[in-house]
Formats: sequence, structure tokens, C-alpha cells
Amino acid sequence: MSVPSYWNQMSYPNLWVEKYGTEFRYRPDSVLINTPTAFRKIFGPTGNVKKANYYKVWPRNVDTHNTWNATSIEMHSRKRRVMNYAFSESALRSAEGFLHANIDRWLELLGSLAEKEGEWTTSLNMCDWMNWLVFDILGDLCFGQSFDMKENDSKLRHVPEMMVGFLELIHPIGWGPLGPAWIWMKPRGLDWLLSVASPPAVVQWQNFVDKCLADRTRVQNDLEKHPKPDNEVRKDFFYWLFKAEDPETGKRGYTLDELFGECELLTIAGSDTTSVVLSSAFFYLARRPDVQTKLAKEIFSTFSNYDEIKSGSKLHSCRYLTAFLEEALRMTPPVSAEPAREVLQGGTTVDSHYIPEGLHVSTGLYCLSFNKDIYPEPFTFRPERWIVADDSHVGSSSDSVTKAQSGFCAFSTGSRGCVGKNLAWLEMRIVIAKALWTFEVKADPTNKLGGGDAQGKPGRQREGEYQTYEMFVSNRRGPIIQLRKRS
Ligand code: HEM
Repeated sequence: MSVPSYWNQMSYPNLWVEKYGTEFRYRPDSVLINTPTAFRKIFGPTGNVKKANYYKVWPRNVDTHNTWNATSIEMHSRKRRVMNYAFSESALRSAEGFLHANIDRWLELLGSLAEKEGEWTTSLNMCDWMNWLVFDILGDLCFGQSFDMKENDSKLRHVPEMMVGFLELIHPIGWGPLGPAWIWMKPRGLDWLLSVASPPAVVQWQNFVDKCLADRTRVQNDLEKHPKPDNEVRKDFFYWLFKAEDPETGKRGYTLDELFGECELLTIAGSDTTSVVLSSAFFYLARRPDVQTKLAKEIFSTFSNYDEIKSGSKLHSCRYLTAFLEEALRMTPPVSAEPAREVLQGGTTVDSHYIPEGLHVSTGLYCLSFNKDIYPEPFTFRPERWIVADDSHVGSSSDSVTKAQSGFCAFSTGSRGCVGKNLAWLEMRIVIAKALWTFEVKADPTNKLGGGDAQGKPGRQREGEYQTYEMFVSNRRGPIIQLRKRS
């Protein structure tokens, strides 16, 4: 395997793939293999890997792990069994009401940005608007109330930026040369030091989470003391996780400390990810009128009114909508780098390479998503690559759709794959369907924020590609768009 320099690896992932092909060693102890077979093997049941030490920089202290950052397989299994409870069918059904309430109000506020009915709104930054919506939904689901960031008088609009500050600080420590020392020092005084001398971004974020959860716990404790009729009970994530039992032991699922950690995790994991994909979706909608027209046509021919847009067979029957979102997830996987995995005792064989115990092997999710053997013309936004062509649908051959599906990796897969996948799908489908039912979308002709720059750095020159900046999940800016109510 070829060995690119560390700096190249950190800076421009698509460039190393172009230069070194699909497999290469990027650090003395780490290999990337960006093929569908490698992805399924590493993250699937026979991968013989566990989450690598990278994840150990994240917990607030060595005693507060959550489902995502737990590296021990046993600890994770227990946590995940309990977490699954909050994503059961019935939990999802009760979550849907919170989605509609927030999305409907969000669309109403967006509409009010037009001076007159039927005119284009002023230009708006969809990255911000999307953050506000997705955070409000997560606030409703995890903390007992919408944060109301979408409301003009909100005092919380700095929160997404605060969270970015937190991610931008911790993520490079995990990847950088200081990572091992940082992890070693955590139980030896570093956790204590951080608790008294944390950077303001971390302190503000943690205080915010603590306050929200203390408020929500009080409400739940009151409910335990004075039960209400079932239909009056607020059934958010907190409710399901608070009362969850470990199905294997029958004991209470999470301690209160764990519950706080899990809710903090769900806010980060559920907001930034979904918001990245939806911002990207609007970037491509605004730049591709052909795609927008086709999508709107499907939505108008499927639903007879706005309120019909909800979970169920009609929403699932929207093939172009699904393909459109699959393509947005491919072009903009929110976790774009490689989720770090360490090989366990006995080693593992991936795409006929034997990788011994203790080394790292993974798949770069962005790299696989742009592998041109799987996705021809990978930088072209083309939902049709996910649809098998037939008499009534323009699409691709069945073989190439199967190939595309085999490389679909945005949610990862296997036991550490995304627990919130079904919720995210529902949320993304409803947002796009309701938004296109209500509005036409166009790009601000004077502001290209969000795309690449022809004069920019190598790898950042494609004006038609939505740009993201890795910090475990992806940071991004824009797009700047305008909306007009459909008559
Ligand atoms: C488009 C939206 C989303 C995408 C693309 C996405 C992607 C991912 C990926 C790639 C992972 C694996 C990360 C790793 O290996 O370190 C993951 C894990 C996870 N996701 Fe998501 N996610 C999305 C939405 C959500 C939502 C809405 C929630 C919950 C509200 C959520 C909760 C989680 C949790 C708790 C984990 C850790 C699972 C475990 O380790 O057992 N995600 N997600």
C-alpha cells in the first residue's frame, strides 16, 4: 500500500483518494480501505474491531461514558440495549408530533421573511435556519421543551456555535499527537483540571445542558409522584430513557448521570448530522431547478393537502424524494472522515489484507461516497443513480443501483451504526416534502456561500459541491437562498 504524508491525509481526503487510490496507510499504525466490501467487513459482525482510543478524549470525565463514546464492547452493548428503547416504533410515533409542531412553525416564520405574499423572501442563510429547526426538535425530544431558536426573539441562537466550539476543540486533540497523553492524563488530574479550567466554550455548553436536564428531571419526578392520564404525558426521548429497563437484566436502564450523558449525546448526534444533510439538500435544490421541479411534481402528485404529509405508506412511496436524500447523504456524509477502529486479538482480514491486532483500520465515509468505481461522475448530484429505470421512471440499471446501495455508508452500519437513522429519515423526508409543498427555492445570485471556490485550495474548487469542514461531524456555511410561496 502507498503511504501518503500525514498532512495530506488531514487536509484533503478526496485528493489522497485521487492520488493513492482506494487503499492506503496514512499513519504508521492506520490503514484506510474505501470500498463497499471493506466497509461492510470492518463495521459488520465479523470485523473483529472495537472503537479506537480516539473516542476516549470525549467523555467529560473517565466515569461518564455514553453510548457513542464507549470503547468497551460490554459497556456499549448494555447502553445500546437501553438506548434502542427510545427509538422503538412506539417512541418514534410519539416523536412525530414534535417534528410537525416545529417544522410547521419554522415554515411559517420562513414565509414571513417575504415583504408581500407571493414575493421572494429576503436572502437567508439556510445553515443557520436548519440548525435552529433541528435543535428545536432535539430540545423538544431530549429536554422537555423546544429551545425556540427559530423564534426571532430567541436568546439561544448562540448555542449551535457554542457546540461547534466544543467539537473544534476536542476533535483535533483526539486525532493529533497529544491524544494518547491527553487520555493518559484524564484520570490523573486532567479531568479535575478541565472541570475547573475548561475553555469557555466547553463550560457554557455543559452548563446549558445541565440546566435543561435538571428542569426536565424535575418534571419527570413530579410525574412519578402525581401520575397523569397516559394521553397527557409528554412522551419525549427523556421519558422513554427515564423509564427504560435493561431487557437483559430487568434493572433500571440508566442512572441519572448516565441519562444526562445520553441526552447530551443525542442533542449533538441528532442535530448537527441531520442539519448538515438538510442544508446540503437545500444547496442542491437551489442550484438544480430540474431536480427541484421533479421533486415538487412527485410531492404534489402524492399528497392531496399539506397535512397529509406525515409518516406512512404515501411518504414512503415517494421514490424520488428518497433518492434525492440518498444523494444528499452521499455527497455530504455528516461524519465524513473514518470512524476510528482498532483491531482486536486475532487480527482481521479486509479485502484480502491481513491487519494485525492493535492496528487501526477503517473506511473514510467521504472517500467511499466519492469512489468513482461505485459512483460514476461522483461530483455530479444525480438522484437517478439510486432509482432502477422502468417505463415510468428515469433511472439507472439495476446492477448500478445495487452497487450504489452497497457503498451507502452515511449512517455507518453494524452494532455501532446510527441508532437515530429512522428518526433522521422521517425528519428529513417531512422537512423536504413540507418545504417544497410550501415554497419554491432559489439561490441568492450574489452570494455563493456553501459552494467551492474556483480560486480556492486544491480539493475546494468545485463551485457546485457543498463544502464541509471536518470536526468529527461536519462544519459548514450557507447556502444563502430565497424562498417564494407557491400560489
Ligand atoms: C442524517 C442524520 C444522521 C447521520 C448521517 C448519522 C450518522 C451516524 C454515524 C456515521 C454514526 C456512527 C459514528 C461512529 O462510528 O462513531 C452514528 C452514530 C450514532 N447516531 Fe447518528 N446520524 C444521524 C442522525 C442521528 C439522530 C437523529 C440521532 C438521535 C437523535 C442519532 C444518534 C446517534 C447515536 C446515539 C449514535 C451512536 C450509536 C452507537 O455507537 O451505538 N443520529 N450516526
